[in-house]
Amino acid sequence: MGLTGNNFVDACYGRNTGRIPIWIMRQAGRYLPEYRSVRETVSFLELCRTPRLIAEVVRQPMERFGLDAAILFSDILTVLPPMGITIEFPNGGPIISPPITSPKDVERLKDYDTAGELHFVYEGIREIKKVLPDKPLIGFAGSPFTLACYLIEGRGSKNFAKAKAFLHRYPEASKRLIDLLADITSRYLAAQVDAGADAVKIFESWGGVLSQNDFRRWCADPIDRIFRTIADKKVPRILYVNNVAPYLPIVREIECEVVGIDYRIDLAEAARALPNKAIQGNLDPAVLFGPPEHVADCTRRILDSIDSHDRLIFNLGHGILPETPVASVHAVVDTVHNYRAS
Ligand code: CP3
Repeated sequence: MGLTGNNFVDACYGRNTGRIPIWIMRQAGRYLPEYRSVRETVSFLELCRTPRLIAEVVRQPMERFGLDAAILFSDILTVLPPMGITIEFPNGGPIISPPITSPKDVERLKDYDTAGELHFVYEGIREIKKVLPDKPLIGFAGSPFTLACYLIEGRGSKNFAKAKAFLHRYPEASKRLIDLLADITSRYLAAQVDAGADAVKIFESWGGVLSQNDFRRWCADPIDRIFRTIADKKVPRILYVNNVAPYLPIVREIECEVVGIDYRIDLAEAARALPNKAIQGNLDPAVLFGPPEHVADCTRRILDSIDSHDRLIFNLGHGILPETPVASVHAVVDTVHNYRAS
């Protein structure tokens, strides 16, 4: 049962006549003192597996800022452990073990029942809907390629050179890996909608390191397939691509309603290249380290540059950083909510 007459959902379909919706990538996170308090009592992974606490940290930024959409609290790597992979989050980035180094390692990965193994996610969604019944909730997953990057590298990386080399050295094993991740992700996102998610988002965080051909084959095609398998769920499908600019003509052809835009390209230019999509973005998270008037000016500059406010969802161009001043978030949200095109 979707939400009707909601400004976020309406904007996803390009027909918002109300106030411009805003939510913030990584809105539940360490820049909030109330999130840090919860994290003093549990590790990040425990938090991701505890439905009551998931709902609590999702509620925190909604309450503080009056945002227009909530996003599930979890991580893109949550789908990996049932495949036989260990994930850890020591201070700093994630560590994935054992990393995939050969086709044999791909054969060892387990397919699994996403309904059973990831029950804590769906319970988390149901808890969130109890606490925030009237707010649209975005479910999410990592793209197959972005997950493959972590599986192959074993950790984050600047240019994911090992992952790129794997694609070219072992194209058949790469296809099996990406197909397996795509199948799991299709079922996972469908189950999130069945549990109550009002929209779904795929994060293509690292596809931006690929050539046009490789982006089409390893990112765009599998994501298009995942989105098509959940078309019957009739919820908005959002694709975020970090460093999207070189791939806009390819992204335009992917079956989805909304494209999230990073901060490297002007939002107006992205909107012109994607006339068939709603657009979400794209304030540089670094701007929030300036004084509130500067934050408001940069926000207004983006809003002024866009002539299609009916299909705009305001957001940052990437995740909010842990040291961000809370006052800056108020400045962005208030500027968007008080905006009237002159
Ligand atoms: O946006 C939200 O509020 C929802 C929660 C969310 C998290 N991770 C929580 C999180 C979402 C949507 C993600 C997605 C995610 N996770 C992505 C895609 C988005 C992007 O940034 O491009 C990626 C690449 C990851 C993998 C990941 N998880 C990394 C690289 C890190 C470490 C970096 C960091 O900020 O420390 C994480 C950890 C993580 N995921 C945290 C949170 C709140 C910090 C954990 C903590 O509380 O200590």
